[in-house]
Amino acid sequence: MRLDPHSYADTDQPRTRSIDLSLRADFDRRVLEGEIALHFRAPGSGPIDLDTRDLRIHSVESLEGSPLPHELFAPEPILGARLRVELPARSTGIRIRYRTSEEASALQWLEPGQTAGKEPFLYSQSQPIHARSLAPLQDTPRIRITVGSARFVAPARLRTLMAAAAKGREEGPGGTAVDLFEMPQPIPPYLIAFAIGDLTRRQLSSRCAVWAEPALADEAATEFAHVEDMMRAAEQLFGPYEWDRFDILVMPPSFPYGGMENPRLTFVTPSILAGDRSLVNVIAHELAHAWTGNLVTNASADDFWLNEGFTVYAERRILEELGGRELAEVHAAAGFHDLTVALERFKERPELTRLRNDLRGIDPDEAYSSVPYEKGSLLVRKLEEAAGRPAWDRFLRDYLGAFRFRSIATQDFLDFLEARLPGLLARAKALEMIDGPGLPADAPRPRSARLEQLRRGEAEPATPAELLVLLQGLTPDAAKVRELDARFGISGRRSLELRQALVLLMIRAGMPEAVEAARRIVLETGRMKYLRPLYTELCRRDPAVAQRIYQEARSGYHHIARSVIEGVLKDQGGRR
Ligand code: BES
Ligand code: ZN
Repeated sequence: MRLDPHSYADTDQPRTRSIDLSLRADFDRRVLEGEIALHFRAPGSGPIDLDTRDLRIHSVESLEGSPLPHELFAPEPILGARLRVELPARSTGIRIRYRTSEEASALQWLEPGQTAGKEPFLYSQSQPIHARSLAPLQDTPRIRITVGSARFVAPARLRTLMAAAAKGREEGPGGTAVDLFEMPQPIPPYLIAFAIGDLTRRQLSSRCAVWAEPALADEAATEFAHVEDMMRAAEQLFGPYEWDRFDILVMPPSFPYGGMENPRLTFVTPSILAGDRSLVNVIAHELAHAWTGNLVTNASADDFWLNEGFTVYAERRILEELGGRELAEVHAAAGFHDLTVALERFKERPELTRLRNDLRGIDPDEAYSSVPYEKGSLLVRKLEEAAGRPAWDRFLRDYLGAFRFRSIATQDFLDFLEARLPGLLARAKALEMIDGPGLPADAPRPRSARLEQLRRGEAEPATPAELLVLLQGLTPDAAKVRELDARFGISGRRSLELRQALVLLMIRAGMPEAVEAARRIVLETGRMKYLRPLYTELCRRDPAVAQRIYQEARSGYHHIARSVIEGVLKDQGGRR
């Protein structure tokens, strides 16, 4: 039986317990070449179906080295190509030699000009279903794997980092070096991640460091100086940190997300280096995933809200611990605004605004939005409010303990909740949020004395987050926008969060200088959170200009960002 709509993995077939990976990065041909060994949980026989995308399979063998019959099926648009291997009796594993394609959806190969230090760079992004373009495997979070050993061969002047424990570096042939890793904790395949580049480290505490290109390292160390405090706060709330280290890797600007919770090594966009620590909520978010997401994992993309809704909730609990309730509420207000924008964008596809989804036949990258994040966090908040914080915090720790290192569906959460806090689901009308579209009228709303003052104009915004909320709530009026920009010096700031919000207003207000300001941002970053709204507004104002700017910026974008923007441009400013 197939349990995940986005994987060929079959419950009647052997399950992978661990993998060994050995890959050589060829920067000239833009391919990885090497092998993967899959070790099964229990010996098995008969067919095993693996997920692949754009892989060239060289050979499939038993672990003892005998060739095995196999068939690579024609690729399906979303799932990729099924690789079926026939296993002889009592097989304990298989070894596959292969290479990736230049189009591998998990990989971005950067030209030297696309990094700060003018060296080449390669990184992977496996979530949600791109690990299959890195290696043939059972690419579903239901099948967790450890990494017995991983070895990456790359030019010796570069360094490979993997979201795993470092096991040393050896000299390789012909001016190469081999970096070695292992991952003892079982992870879903979407957490397999590595990057290769000119990278240097700054220690932040005994278990935290930041990695970046040399030109950014000091700045990054200052921006993230308080990460250890965050970890302590998170451990107080959610229990011990189970992944040993929490390092951060500052990615090149094209990285399409704000952050990615790769275990032991969170990847972040360089755009969170705002110089004022105003965007460290992204770090709180990725750190929180160490519990909600990496320890207790969504069973498939249908239950993505279990990862992101809980994590946004947990992120704001960490912020509250460190900066107080008012700070957390201001962030929640900004998130609420993003939610209303996303609900508007999905007006014609309300089924994608439920928390529990049925994404059969739908690409999870296409269904991606703020809904599982913000609507999900509102549901968790509603449950907290109905249970009372002390009872809810006890429940949370029980939940994380009961399902640690497991992958669960929404129903597993609901059953556990009903058993531990009977009646709470009904009292909080949780199913309405989970299975219903949109946002019920009685959903919680961010509220605080400070937010009220800001809304009524009785107080000046005192922090970047407060300023953001003010900008989000403004009606576009050129004089007002100019006045605010002059008063708060927004255009001159580094924070893209604020500059993007300002530029959106400028475009909507029809200000002539808006186009150039938008162009500067979309050339500076590949983070989709900023690109989508900017291109949407640009396109509304002038599709030809949007198209021209996109052509200029396109080479700096990840392919996922490209398809998102191309979708926006195709819609010609109709829907958003
Ligand atoms: N895991 C996500 C990023 C992701 C989700 C990548 C789905 C691919 C598919 C990460 O934890 C995340 O949510 N990042 C946010 C951070 C924000 C909510 C603070 C982002 O990138 O904006
Ligand atoms: Zn997240």
